[in-house]
Amino acid sequence: MTAESPTLRGAAWSRIRELFALEPGAIHLNCGTVGAMPHAVIDTVDRVTRHWAGGLGDVYPPGNYPDHRAAIAKAYRVDQDEMVITHNATEGMARVIHGLDLHAGDEVLTTTHECYSVLSNFNLLRNRIGISLRTLTLPTGYEVRAEEILDLIAAAITPRTKVLAFAGITLFTGTRLPMRALCELAHRHGLITVIDGALLPGMLDLDMRAIGADFISCSGSKFQCGPLGTGLLYVRNKIHPEHNPLPLPTFWPVISTWYPMQGSPPPRTTTAIESDNMADYLQSAGSASIARGAALAAACALWDEIGRDRIERRIMELAAHARARVAERFGIEAMYSPGADPRLRSPLIAFHPFRKPEDAWNVNKIHEFTMRLQREHRLFTRWTEFDVVGSPHQHYASRLTTHIFNDFDQIDLAVDIMARTAEEMS
Ligand SMILES: Cc1ncc(COP(=O)(O)O)c(C=O)c1O
Repeated sequence: MTAESPTLRGAAWSRIRELFALEPGAIHLNCGTVGAMPHAVIDTVDRVTRHWAGGLGDVYPPGNYPDHRAAIAKAYRVDQDEMVITHNATEGMARVIHGLDLHAGDEVLTTTHECYSVLSNFNLLRNRIGISLRTLTLPTGYEVRAEEILDLIAAAITPRTKVLAFAGITLFTGTRLPMRALCELAHRHGLITVIDGALLPGMLDLDMRAIGADFISCSGSKFQCGPLGTGLLYVRNKIHPEHNPLPLPTFWPVISTWYPMQGSPPPRTTTAIESDNMADYLQSAGSASIARGAALAAACALWDEIGRDRIERRIMELAAHARARVAERFGIEAMYSPGADPRLRSPLIAFHPFRKPEDAWNVNKIHEFTMRLQREHRLFTRWTEFDVVGSPHQHYASRLTTHIFNDFDQIDLAVDIMARTAEEMS
């Protein structure tokens, strides 16, 4: 890719930035909502769509994406029977929640900092079958430590708790939850673990199995920079006791054209060898966008080429820089995102931009702030809303997110613009 290095693995970040179809002059600090597609990903959507547009072939087999799933699964250190290409994290999460074998009175433990896609689906289940839903408010602020989160959740588990559901990284405050420790806690209590991993792929160099969860539903269009309308779903389909010693949960793969039309699938395995391909049941669900799956696979292949370990390091370096600049300009007390505990840090940084603390409750003001950044400076961030312990009203925060196509100068410029705009509005 460069004169010095012919491969992407060794390419300079300034060269890698050129792979992306970024809007000239814009500053994209909103990967927590949507990533920027590489040109190669857009080209794949176009090429594969054109290939199938004539309607000359059997569109069903390629819509199961067996090869793409195998390649993507490998990148996340799992197998094809555990990996599904979905339409987004929301779809994956809904199919997990409605596929669980839950009954009236069973308790789901989660947090108020979950995405709407998680809370609305669990609430639907509460209304439909009478599960009980317990939501805890996570602590916020620079000084939060992993133990506070673990203690909060551990203390809330009861004999009725059946499921522990949480975001790997929360979208509101960018708190990276101690996933492995929470899963181990769940294992000790025999709980099913459901992780909203929307923000994880493309950011972290993940071994999905080693996290220890039963289900991880992810977005393909955020940090992984696949097309909008793509997602990944990991479904634990065999037992690796070192990662999760619990039996596989009963699971009903809703929306399927492959689940048997008569009789039942074989009993779920109790060993490291699958008895059935659960991901196929979920993947085979009528006609699919062949182009979408191919393009997500192209994005993943690009990440493998650049190096997922290298990508994670770079994202975190940029985030550390952004966190330091935000803390410097707005003060540590303005931060909703954790910073002191390295285990909780992520590249999503949420903070209160205004001088008056009560402006944290002013939705119009944070909205106008975010819109001004876009209109006047082509600076793309977002605002988030979330419960804060002890506050009678939700707080509204400004949130920026770093990715490999950003650089240090751009972050400095963005934080300057944010500080100036906030000052004008304070
Ligand atoms: C933590 C989290 N969960 C779920 C979602 C929903 O993702 P998708 O649009 O892929 O359904 C988002 C979107 O921002 C998110 O940040």
